[in-house]
Amino acid sequence: MDKERLKQTAAEKAVEEIQPGAIVGLGTGSTVYYVLLALGEKVRDGLNIIGIATSKQTEIISANQGIPLSTLAEHPVIDVTIDGADEIDPSLNLIKGGGGALVREKIIAHASKRLVIVADASKSVSVLGSTFALPVEVLQFGWEATQAAINIICDKSTMRNNGEKPYISDNGNYILDCRFDAIRQPAQVELQLNNLPGVVENGLFVNRADKAIIGTTSGVEIREKTR
Ligand code: 5RP
Repeated sequence: MDKERLKQTAAEKAVEEIQPGAIVGLGTGSTVYYVLLALGEKVRDGLNIIGIATSKQTEIISANQGIPLSTLAEHPVIDVTIDGADEIDPSLNLIKGGGGALVREKIIAHASKRLVIVADASKSVSVLGSTFALPVEVLQFGWEATQAAINIICDKSTMRNNGEKPYISDNGNYILDCRFDAIRQPAQVELQLNNLPGVVENGLFVNRADKAIIGTTSGVEIREKTR
């Protein structure tokens, strides 16, 4: 089975988590895209939900699918958020932000009663940081100084680009992709990075996900957080 099919299978399973009347956080990325397609179909069939998008990209896709959207100001408590991840460890800690939406994703995850992650099996790792560089969103002001401070924590960071120019997030900031050999103490690294002036947020999601729905070649694997 190809990767797209694995993403789609996981996404379609995840949509079963959404109850009528729910306020639903809508993540960002190529796996969430399939969530939005499946949810859009249910909405057009009469499912009554309100979505809160984590990115401009998700806002556009959701609107095209006919999914009603609102804001965190209107709905500060979200029933369930479905989002993707770049890496998932055995404790359901995550690296996110490959799609550049980590700040809004973390705000929405924090406002959610439940966070359900959808992914294909390639995202499953034993230790975070082993396959994917950790995205860190930084202010444009003084970003070189912020990068120098970040480089004391990680092995090496690179500016994310969009063609010839720096990539600009939905919040108007830069993203530095930070390589680690491995992130063995993700809670500590999350705090250390966020303690640096100029860092807006980083893509470590520690102790936030409640469930991961993972598309594998032998079917959908469900992992629940152990409390
Ligand atoms: C966006 C994210 C995405 O959820 C993450 O990058 C996974 O994306 P994809 O499903 O396309 O692999 O964190 O900021």
